[in-house]
This record gives sequence, C-alpha cells and structure tokens, in this order.
Amino acid sequence: MTHPTAPTPAQADAFATDVYGGLTQSPQKTLPSKYLYDAVGSALFEVITHLPEYGLTRADERLIKTHAQDVLMSLGPVGTVVELGSGSGRKTRWILEACARRQPCTYYPIEISATALAHCSRELSDIPGVKVLGIEREYLPGLQQITAMRQGESPMLVLFLGSTIGNFARPDAQRFLGEVRKMMRPGDALLLGTDLVKPTPALINAYDDALGITAAFNLNLLVRINRELGAHFDLQQFQHEARFNLETSAIEMHIRSRIRQSVDIPGAGLRVEFEVGETIWTEISRKYLAADVLAMGGQAGFTAAGQWIDQGWPFAETLLVAA
Ligand code: AVI
Repeated sequence: MTHPTAPTPAQADAFATDVYGGLTQSPQKTLPSKYLYDAVGSALFEVITHLPEYGLTRADERLIKTHAQDVLMSLGPVGTVVELGSGSGRKTRWILEACARRQPCTYYPIEISATALAHCSRELSDIPGVKVLGIEREYLPGLQQITAMRQGESPMLVLFLGSTIGNFARPDAQRFLGEVRKMMRPGDALLLGTDLVKPTPALINAYDDALGITAAFNLNLLVRINRELGAHFDLQQFQHEARFNLETSAIEMHIRSRIRQSVDIPGAGLRVEFEVGETIWTEISRKYLAADVLAMGGQAGFTAAGQWIDQGWPFAETLLVAA
C-alpha cells in the first residue's frame, strides 16, 4: 500500500471533497482510510509490519512461504497472476516461482502508485519464466483491463493478500468479491488473506503499539490535511485511539480531540468544531472467523479449494475457485 507521489489537481480536489464530506458527517466524523497512505504514511505502515505487536504481515508471509506450492498444485497450470496491490516482493516471489516451475506466466500487479509499481517490477523481474507488467489503476478497473486482453485457456490466479479486504466495510467487502468473481472464468482462483479473530488485548496492542508508530500513522492524516489543505490542526490536541468493536468484529482507529476546539481547513472551505473527547473515525480493520471467509466466498460464487491457517498469529489464506 504505497501512494507516495505528489497529488495531481484532480486528486487534490477529491481529497478536499472527501475531507469536507467526512468532517461534516454527524454524529460520527470520518475520514477515508485510503488517505493514510501518503509518502510518510506508507513509510510508517512499512515500519508497522515489522513491529513485534503486529503479527499480521509475518503470519501472511509464513503461510505463503509454506503453501505457495500447494496453492499452485490445486489449480491447472496458471498463465496469469494478478495481484490487487503491488505486494511485497518476498511473498509474491514465492508464488511466482512456484507458478513458473510449471509454465511461463505473466504477473500483473495493480496499484495506483507508479512508484510502488516501479519498485515491484525491480524486485520481481529477475524470476526466470515470469514477465512483470504493472497496471497503474484502481483494483477493479485494472482487473477489467487484464481480463479484457486475456488470451488462451490457462487459469488466472488473483492475489488479494495482507488482509486488505478487512479495511472494507462488511457489505463493501462482499460486493468487491462479487465484482472480482464476475471478471473470472470458471477454474480461475482468488487467494485471499484475512486476519482472524484473536484475544482483544493482542489486537489492541497491534493497533496501539508501545513505540507509538501506529499513533503516528493515524495522526499523520491531520498532518496531511494541514499540508495539502492549509489546515490548522494542532497535533498536541489530538490523540490516537484503537478500539475493538465486538458487534462488527473490527478494530476501529479513531483520532480523539483532547479539548473543545475548532479547526480551520481553508482548502476544504470548512471550519470544524470538536467537543472534548469527540473522534474522527479513520479506519476499520475487520477480524474474521475462518468460516466467515468461506461463507463470503460462497456467496460471491466461489468454491473453497483450500484454507491454511497460521497458529502463531491466527491468519488465514483461503483459495477460492470460481465455480
Ligand atoms: C493494510 N491493512 C491490512 C492494515 C490493517 O491491519 O488493517 C492497515 C493498518 N492500520 C493500522 N495498522 C495497520
């Protein structure tokens, strides 16, 4: 998840519109989590993946390393591998090497950041039998572009790893899987990584770490609004908060106002009032039961061909085949 280039005028407009919409929402102010990933936010997220409290990325990597071969052996010889996001070189390399052992394949990372795509091509273009072609688009239009130019009969494998699906609200996640399924042929597959439910204290620590990196990642959203929209958020007057919502089975990140205050955001044509303790909700990170993932896949038109679970940090890799 790296979006570190300077915003174009259209992106700046969209940011101002979303900030206006989110901060005028009542009773709960919100900001879309995609804006967490400017250059600083992307670098902080990379640090988060190495924190002792945040076991998610390491579990995802362990599973892929151990089961890449099993995933590929469950499918016919795969000619096309698509990744939603540009992925980490390490994880994707294990999949691509297992794939190319059977037949040459083309790897299409889909990502809106040109920088991240360039980094990904540099890391993965040395694998014999694998051609890397980056697609600089949003996930669904990118997948549409690839499926429209597909040739031959060999199956396509789509990777959606790292539990990024957990950052979608529940109905959006289901809709997203349905859209992906519609672009697939029977026999194509989706490898879906999802973080699983675990004891609440472990989850809270993972999203409110001792070093304060996740706090910086969250509060950086206010720094971004200050920089890009000329706002006057005083960071000392806000704090990071991670909550677990039992009803939705999701970690929620919020930014809490320590005092009653108003903040000008000239670039969004807005002055925002905050009560003491009022929050801006910035991210949802859903935690699944392994069975939920199978049910979601089934509802979207997939059959489960395998599910691998990490015991150290409960996390599932589920192989869903288009029925
Ligand atoms: C990218 N995504 C899967 C991360 C997560 O765990 O939901 C983003 C994140 N937010 C705080 N820490 C990590």
